[in-house]
Amino acid sequence: MRHLMSPLDFTTEELDRLFDLANDIENHPAKYAHTCDSRILATCFYEPSTRTRLSFESAMTRLGGRVIGFADATSSSAAKGESVSDTIRVISGYADICAMRHPKEGAPMVAAEKSGIPVINAGDGGHQHPTQTLTDLLTIRSLKGRLGDFTIGLCGDLKFGRTVHSLINALIRYENIRFVFISPEELRVPDYITDMLKEKEIPFQEVIRLENVMPQLDLLYMTRVQKERFFNEEDYVRLKDFYILNADKMSLAKKDMLVLHPLPRVNEISVEVDSDPRAVYFRQAKYGVYVRMALILTLLELVP
Ligand code: CP
Repeated sequence: MRHLMSPLDFTTEELDRLFDLANDIENHPAKYAHTCDSRILATCFYEPSTRTRLSFESAMTRLGGRVIGFADATSSSAAKGESVSDTIRVISGYADICAMRHPKEGAPMVAAEKSGIPVINAGDGGHQHPTQTLTDLLTIRSLKGRLGDFTIGLCGDLKFGRTVHSLINALIRYENIRFVFISPEELRVPDYITDMLKEKEIPFQEVIRLENVMPQLDLLYMTRVQKERFFNEEDYVRLKDFYILNADKMSLAKKDMLVLHPLPRVNEISVEVDSDPRAVYFRQAKYGVYVRMALILTLLELVP
């Protein structure tokens, strides 16, 4: 039995197979419509979500399976003090696979250790968000035609952003990637990541102003300043509108640069950018369904 805790749980060859499968699902959905007949996905979300939970539910439904779960810790027995270990033991008798989001780092890993079914980390605190990374990689591969050989800017909350940490970890396995980290001083990417990049001799730069680096980027990954990760409101208010990507800034970018964002956005991308063909974040959200369909089939060993 296999779980997914980190994007690194798959080799790059396995990821290629997963993305090929996701593209085939996108192009031939009818072929997969009954591959999970009689299978059940449990979505156990102890933290809010729109895309991750609903795209998992959409994915299982499109594969012919069914979905059970909870969208909020307060509506589960966690509110009575039940541990994730006990919860997953019980759910192992109710479902065939489980996607779990939890505010505590490592909680899905604790669940996986006691689980009788595959557990997918659907986001744990500020740590990892592997299925978002799979979505990001599939989007880049599908729209750029390659993974590797590009300069990627990551902008916003690089300190607490689990999508950023997961994506950097996944991208360093590909050839010729250059990172540009764009953040205010307080939200810089953690030292363990920059230390790791130095050790692997992967080029990166850290800057504060987005405008200065726009012309060199092939990809721009925008992120939200996450209110829920701040310890005080004052710091959040001071930093929340630090970056706003607008049409003026987009005019500085390459004609084929792509803008990604894991969403939800707050103010960091002006709505006027949505109509720019380089803004692909809503397409990215849709790729999240195909890659989660491919992931469910792979973990349940049901790939036709
Ligand atoms: N990208 C993402 O994880 O969105 P949700 O928080 O809505 O699931």
